[in-house]
Amino acid sequence: MSYACITCCLILVTAMLCPFIHINFAMQDATLLQPLSLDAGNVSCGADWQRVHRLRERYDAIAVGGRTWNLDQPRLTVRAERLGREPKRQPVRVIFAGSQPCAIQPASVQTFVIGNGGFFEGCDHASDTVSLPMQGHDLRQPLQALYRHGVRSLLVEGGRTLLHSFFRQGFADVVTVFVRASSVDSAVQAACAELGVTFADLRAKPFGEGFLLEAGRAHAHGLREGLEQAS
Ligand SMILES: NC(=O)c1ccc[n+]([C@@H]2O[C@H](COP(=O)([O-])OP(=O)(O)OC[C@H]3O[C@@H](n4cnc5c(N)ncnc54)[C@H](OP(=O)(O)O)[C@@H]3O)[C@@H](O)[C@H]2O)c1
Repeated sequence: MSYACITCCLILVTAMLCPFIHINFAMQDATLLQPLSLDAGNVSCGADWQRVHRLRERYDAIAVGGRTWNLDQPRLTVRAERLGREPKRQPVRVIFAGSQPCAIQPASVQTFVIGNGGFFEGCDHASDTVSLPMQGHDLRQPLQALYRHGVRSLLVEGGRTLLHSFFRQGFADVVTVFVRASSVDSAVQAACAELGVTFADLRAKPFGEGFLLEAGRAHAHGLREGLEQAS
């Protein structure tokens, strides 16, 4: 993969109305002695899963890319076993399907499927599933549409292809990355290489079985899940 390393300007896009966007990712430094298989389920530790479920509870919607949806079949829910208590609310689901056909199973929350010529199926509860158009991988139109549908905050959980689009197009208010690594330096290096970005304002600290990196304006969204609360 050859993604140019760009400086990620974590800015609030004021020229258009779109949700507050938080990008979250979990990964490991590939130089670790015992690499795990590279999916989030294996990479995150218990503390990180709790952090992620706390985040999910705070956001109006959770988004994944079409390949993650099809490969992992994620539930995208806030779960009591991760939180240690009953969730206060559940986010709606957003699938950036692109041209990937996606099977959508009925859920108790609304599902937004963003596509450009693909299709989705399995929607017995059509009123719970909203199809939104997208031109190529341009995020402006779907983000504006989500805002019009009441989504004011969006937690984007991957995969890498979708995240690269958010970074390239400048749609990232906050970024958090959990990295299994042997040192904070290798965690930062690995995250920048994996995500194809460098962060001007990166904060990092040991967290769970790895390190938590954070960039952007967590407090702009009233998030108390900043690094100072994560340990
Ligand atoms: N470590 C983690 O935290 C984490 C989190 C989530 C997923 N994952 C892993 O990531 C893997 C999948 O990642 P992936 O990179 O292959 O796929 P992905 O990012 O989940 O999905 C990529 C697809 O989304 C569609 N898409 C729709 N809108 C897009 C946009 N604006 N920009 C880019 N793509 C857009 C594209 O379809 P078209 O090209 O057809 O338009 C593209 O092929 C899985 O193995 C999953 O386990 C890891």
